Amino acid sequence: MHFTDTLPTPPAEALAHSEQLAQHIRAAIASHGGSIPFREFMRMALYEPGLGYYVAGLRKIGVEGDFITAPEISPLFSQCLANQCAQVLAELGGGDMLELGAGSGVMAADMLLRLEKLGCLPQRYRILDLSPELRDRQRQTLQAKAPHLLARVEWLDALPEKTIRGVIVGNEVLDAMPVEVFQVTEGEMHSVHVKLEGDNFAFTARNPSLTLPLSGEGTKAGEHLAPPLTRGGWKGFLSYTSEYNPALPGWMRSMADTLEAGALLLIDYGYEQQDYYHPDRNEGTLICHYQHRVHNNPLLYPGLQDITASVDFTAVAAAGVDAGLELTGYTTQAAFLASSGLEELFIAALDANPDNQYQLAQQVRTLSLPSEMGDRFKVIALSKGFTPPLIGFRLANRKQHL
Ligand SMILES: C[S@@+](CC[C@H](N)C(=O)[O-])C[C@H]1O[C@@H](n2cnc3c(N)ncnc32)[C@H](O)[C@@H]1O
Repeated sequence: MHFTDTLPTPPAEALAHSEQLAQHIRAAIASHGGSIPFREFMRMALYEPGLGYYVAGLRKIGVEGDFITAPEISPLFSQCLANQCAQVLAELGGGDMLELGAGSGVMAADMLLRLEKLGCLPQRYRILDLSPELRDRQRQTLQAKAPHLLARVEWLDALPEKTIRGVIVGNEVLDAMPVEVFQVTEGEMHSVHVKLEGDNFAFTARNPSLTLPLSGEGTKAGEHLAPPLTRGGWKGFLSYTSEYNPALPGWMRSMADTLEAGALLLIDYGYEQQDYYHPDRNEGTLICHYQHRVHNNPLLYPGLQDITASVDFTAVAAAGVDAGLELTGYTTQAAFLASSGLEELFIAALDANPDNQYQLAQQVRTLSLPSEMGDRFKVIALSKGFTPPLIGFRLANRKQHL
């Protein structure tokens, strides 16, 4: 399914910007003997300094951007998350927070306001984003919504050298990490590269002997492997394409090293591994967003559109456990929000603003309905030196499914 025919044509200035990035990518392809792994293409398209989608100053998130995330839909989302963070901070006797990939800053502002109400403010609220241009926007949002709390917020260029006690949170960060694409054709596994056809980018299959770095039989997660991997490998497949994130183990180790005690909470869209690599999902999970249109051609308009892949939560859990963290909780966004006080927060918001009834009800529906974000988005919690059950997984904890 390519829905690119219905995409709006970018304005001339944007096309010129994209062409500049395309020239960098063409040069990389030329210097690597005619092709680069898809993962490198995705890294350049999203993060190439000064030019990539997330680093070049375009407005991406929100109504005028390309997509909308849960904290942009409703403050109720961030308030529920704050309730969960408050439990961890209270148990630890206070601490810090670190938000990864903070977008417009709205989640930081709404969480801080809720934590203030709960009497559980973190000493410092740190923000680390690969997109330095978002800092100004985050500062403006915090200045407008919570000016009295701005002094607690600190922007980082890299993970802090000293470990933190408290909570690390990231909404829709994992899906923005570059992925390797692999393809099985007539039983042979290939790594998918990007090559040039004239000036245009095209896919090409390389390395027929590729083996996937997924957990195999005999390893801890072996019993949960996807059907194509367990039933005699990929031999039965004429054509199967999917992705994996090879940076996950290293990234998770750095999170575990950063966390002295507390919890890492990640929210994203994705599946358990057996659903991720389900035989029916044979075209993979890569999707692109351009001005609220969704399509699946990542080679189009480099630098102008978002490229994402769904998250393999079994791989996230395995990387966390290997890094020394404990898998504390895993559930759907709907169950997490319901467990974290969504109903009470909704009633309080309604009492404060009865005229907003329709909007508030609509926000709850979008965040929670299975047909909207409720089931597709999951919340995973990994912890260190923290034993009490987390409130967000009270109603349903599916960690044994990972
Ligand atoms: C889809 S946006 C989500 C923004 C925001 N959390 C929200 O929910 O609106 C993904 C963000 O994650 C950032 N990001 C991607 N990889 C990251 C990493 N390894 N560390 C920190 N931020 C990262 C990107 O730069 C981008 O700002």
